[in-house]
Amino acid sequence: MIKNDLFLRALKGEIVERPPVWMMRQAGRYLPEFIAIREKYDFFTRCQTPELASEITVQPIRRYGMDAAILFSDILVIPQAMNIEVEMRPGIGPWLPNPIRTQKDVDAVIIPDIEETLGYVMDAIKLTKEMLNDEIPLIGFAGSPWTILCYCVQGQGSKTFDKAKEFCFTNPMAAHQLLQKITDTTIAYLKEKVKAGVNAVQVFDSWGGMLSPKDYQEFSWQYIQQIIDALYKDAPVIAFGKGCWFALEEMAKSKASALGVDWTITPQMARKLTGNKITLQGNFDPVRLLSPPKEIKKMVKEMIDAFGKDRYIVNLGHGILPHIPLENAGAFIEAVKEYKN
Ligand code: CP3
Repeated sequence: MIKNDLFLRALKGEIVERPPVWMMRQAGRYLPEFIAIREKYDFFTRCQTPELASEITVQPIRRYGMDAAILFSDILVIPQAMNIEVEMRPGIGPWLPNPIRTQKDVDAVIIPDIEETLGYVMDAIKLTKEMLNDEIPLIGFAGSPWTILCYCVQGQGSKTFDKAKEFCFTNPMAAHQLLQKITDTTIAYLKEKVKAGVNAVQVFDSWGGMLSPKDYQEFSWQYIQQIIDALYKDAPVIAFGKGCWFALEEMAKSKASALGVDWTITPQMARKLTGNKITLQGNFDPVRLLSPPKEIKKMVKEMIDAFGKDRYIVNLGHGILPHIPLENAGAFIEAVKEYKN
């Protein structure tokens, strides 16, 4: 049994002494110990080497003692396994030299054997579980099919993902075929992750907010829902949609154990839209971690008071930024641990 099970209890909606806390992208570039490893190994070597991935996963836990660990990996290992070339270019980020633009491109995308192509992720999970020694739960994750399509079609990060949207709007048949292939692969992948030992899974829909509410239902939410329906009996599922507050009411009807929200919505509004019944996760503005530590602590206390300590997981509204001072990240975590209502 897991010694600190605050996170799992919050996902079940149980009454807790204080809410659990972790940070999206907590295994990342704000940590000097992460940068030391990055200097020696390129990005996908870090993902593919279980000893490195597990070490990077536990780094933030050693420093700050969060209530959950999230496996170091990337959402783009899925397109890679589906026969789509993905590079991580320093200074640019994800780079796909042969983006998907036609029906023929979609036809060439395979639904891979998970053990064969992504067995290294399962090995990293097993090793991380040993290192965590049942102290805290481990989160596994995947990108939402829409967010994965964004990179596959756009070929790189974007402020608008205009080419990805154009593909969906001008060739919806091919787009839906691609989304379904990604969904099927993601379901098989997350099920393997649970078998390998993760205690919960999070689906990152980082670019859901690029779509209008109607297009969101068609190109994103229905596929996330398939993933939730396939997974919820195996493990708790968290659905995080950046900029997707307009869909919260619909999302709350799903079998997700929790919904992640960003900072563009008030806790009160998020509670109202979700009928006050589902666990919520978020939603501190990541840039607010640049405020003085004292102010961060005050804001975190106010945020917990506003969400309520139960059915709540403290997190940022998106990933932590590389230039956040270590002390400020520490103040965020400490404020939660010191919380008393
Ligand atoms: O949260 C964690 O600590 C676990 C690790 C994690 C990474 N990526 C490691 C990573 C997680 C959960 C992700 C998810 C991910 N990857 C998302 C969804 C979450 C989000 O932030 O929206 C997305 C959109 C990606 C795609 C991706 N991978 C981007 C946009 C980048 C950044 C490129 C850049 O250089 O700015 C990556 C690379 C990446 N993934 C890094 C890390 C720590 C940084 C690059 C590096 O380590 O060299």
